[in-house]
Amino acid sequence: MMLVAFLLLLVFTGGSSSNKVCSYQDVLDHLNLTADNSVFKLTRPVLDHTHPTVVELDIILYAVLAVTEKTQTFIPFVWATVMWNNERISWDPDQFCGITHVSVPRGLLWRPDLFIYEMTQKDDSPLNPYMFVSHDGKVISEEDMKVVSTCKMDVHKFPFDTQRCNITIGSAIHCVDEIRLLPFSNSSRATQFSREVMKTQGEWEFLQLSVDSYNFSFDHRQWEQLVYTFTIRRRPLLHVINFLLPILFFLSLDLASFFIADHRGEKLGFKVTVLLAISVLLLILNDILPSMSNRTPLIATYCIVIFGLMLLSLLETILVTYLMEKDSQEKLRLRDNLEDKQVKNDNCNTEERRRSGSSCICKASEGEKQCELLPMAEEVNNSIQARESHVLLRILEELKELQKTLNLHLNCRQEVCKFGRWAARINRAFFIFYVTTVSLFLCLIFIEWNS
Ligand SMILES: *[C@@H]1O[C@H](CO)[C@@H](O)[C@H](O)[C@H]1NC(C)=O
Ligand SMILES: *[C@@H]1O[C@H](CO)[C@@H](O)[C@H](O)[C@H]1NC(C)=O
Repeated sequence: MMLVAFLLLLVFTGGSSSNKVCSYQDVLDHLNLTADNSVFKLTRPVLDHTHPTVVELDIILYAVLAVTEKTQTFIPFVWATVMWNNERISWDPDQFCGITHVSVPRGLLWRPDLFIYEMTQKDDSPLNPYMFVSHDGKVISEEDMKVVSTCKMDVHKFPFDTQRCNITIGSAIHCVDEIRLLPFSNSSRATQFSREVMKTQGEWEFLQLSVDSYNFSFDHRQWEQLVYTFTIRRRPLLHVINFLLPILFFLSLDLASFFIADHRGEKLGFKVTVLLAISVLLLILNDILPSMSNRTPLIATYCIVIFGLMLLSLLETILVTYLMEKDSQEKLRLRDNLEDKQVKNDNCNTEERRRSGSSCICKASEGEKQCELLPMAEEVNNSIQARESHVLLRILEELKELQKTLNLHLNCRQEVCKFGRWAARINRAFFIFYVTTVSLFLCLIFIEWNS
C-alpha cells in the first residue's frame, strides 16, 4: 500500500516537473489569429474553393413570448447553435497541454451569413460576445434570440385553435454549393429538448418543433434552407370563462324568460336587457379577432347565431305582447257591451217596476231582455216580507254579476278572444322551435370546434 502511494507521488512530481505551462494565447499565436489578421475574416474558410462549408444548425424553443392574431406576429425566444468548419484552424492539443477549445471574440472569424426570412424586426437582445473554436477547426457560435416573425394564422377555430408558425433560415448570398445547411438534431430530438428547457408558455402550449430542409431555387441558383415549424395550441380556458360561457348564460336567461308572464311588458324589458348585455360582449370579440380572415371564425358564427336567435325571441315577445294587448282591448269592449245591456235591463226593470208596482226579474242571457213578472201572491205590506225580498234582490244582483263574467268567458272560447289564443299558440310553438334550434346549433358548433 505504502509502495503504491510512493510510486504515485514519484510519477506525479516527475510529471509536473516536465509539464510546461500553456495559455490560450499560445494557441492563438500558433494560429497567428490576431485582431488585425484579415486572413480569417475576409473569405469563406476553405483551402479549396470548390469545398462547400457545411453549416450545422440547431434551434431550440425557450419560450413563446407573444402571439398576436391582429398583426399576425409570432414571437418565440429561441436558442440557436451554429457550427461550421474552418479549414484554416487546427492544432494538436498534445502540443498545448491538452487544450482542445479556445474561445475567441466573434469579430475575429468569418461567420456564415444566415438570416431568418420571416423576421420583421432586428433582434435587440444582447449578443453573445464569444465563439468556441476547437482544435479540429470546428467553430461553434451560440445565441439567444427573440425572433419577431410574421406568421399566417388561421383563427377559424378560435379559441380552440392550433397554430403552426415557421422560421426559415438560410444563407443570404451563398448557394448550396458554397454553404450546405444541415440540421444538427432531428425533429423529435428538437421537440424533446425544447420541452425540457421550456421556460414559459403563457397562453400557448408547445406541441411540436419540426425541421425540414428545402432547396430554394432562383435564377438557376439554389439556396439551401432549413424550415423550423413550431406547433402551438392555445389554452382556451380564459376565453371560455370570459366569453363563451357568459353568452351561454345569457342565452339560458333568455330561454328562462319564456316563463315570465306576458303582460305588463316585464318580459320585453328583460329580453332587451339580455340582448344589450350580449352586444357588450361582442365588443370584446372585436378586440380579439383580426379583421381579415379567409374563413369566418366559428366564434363569430356562434355570436351572430345566438344574437340572431335572441333577437328573434325578442321580436316574438313583441308580437305576443301586441296580441295580448289586442285581446285585453277586445275583452274590455265585450265587457262594456255587456254593461250597456245591463244598464238597459236595469232601465227596463225600473220601468216594469214602476208600471206594475211590483218587482221583476230580468234575464240578461244572450243579450236579450226578457222580463217576466214575479207572481204576486199578496200585497207586500208585511215588514218581514219586505226584508226578505230585499235579500232576494241582493242575491239577484250577485247572480247577474256572475252571469256577466260567465258570458265573457263563454264568448272567449268562441270567436271574440282569438288574439289571446293565437298569442298562446305562437308562444308555445316558438319556445319549441327556440329550444330545438339552440340545442342543435350548440351541438353542431361544438363538434366543429372539436374536430
Ligand atoms: C501573421 O500575420 C501577420 C499579419 O497579420 C503576418 O505579417 C505574419 O507574417 C503572419 N505570421 C505567420 C507566421 O504566418
Ligand atoms: C439540395 O441540394 C443539395 C445539393 O445539390 C442536395 O445534396 C440536397 O439533397 C438537396 N436538398 C433537397 C431537400 O432537395
